[in-house]
Amino acid sequence: MTTGRKKQNVILCGFMGTGKSSVGRRLAELTGYGFLDMDAVIESEERMSIPDIFATRGEPAFRALESGLVDRICRMVRQVVATGGGTVANPENLAKLKRCGTVVALTADIETIFARVGSGEGRPMLKQGDTEERIRTLLQKRAEAYAQADLTIDTSQRTIEEVARRIMTLLQGD
Ligand code: S3P
Repeated sequence: MTTGRKKQNVILCGFMGTGKSSVGRRLAELTGYGFLDMDAVIESEERMSIPDIFATRGEPAFRALESGLVDRICRMVRQVVATGGGTVANPENLAKLKRCGTVVALTADIETIFARVGSGEGRPMLKQGDTEERIRTLLQKRAEAYAQADLTIDTSQRTIEEVARRIMTLLQGD
């Protein structure tokens, strides 16, 4: 990608169901950057699914793996990174990622997120209680963190292709 960008990576953050992985994969194709999906890397390195990591080792163990991976990402260049929905809720992770990349927040309204995540299957953070209520609560808790991104794009009414191309356009001016 030939842009005026001074930072070395593109970091996609945002709530579950906002399209980080799908958009990230397409954005990597468009930019010629590598693609790194944090959840997929953790699952492959631990040889265990995210729900199994939560169930057998607990959330703090997963968060430690996530933060360790953030440190490694910060030594990389020319990567499009799809973070997990909770990665930037940790202020240290957010600060580090902002130093090593342009952080782009993908957002969506609650109805869209609910429709995309369905029953919350495979997403341990949505397991407790009513899924829609849980989304609302977690979104409120994390809104401030997502709002600190360098760029924000609402994905509710947009296709993956549209979001990826919109990010490309916005990055030209970054
Ligand atoms: C999480 C989101 C998930 C995954 C884990 C925790 C969260 O990623 O990292 O289940 O805390 O919001 P996605 O946003 O890709 O679903």
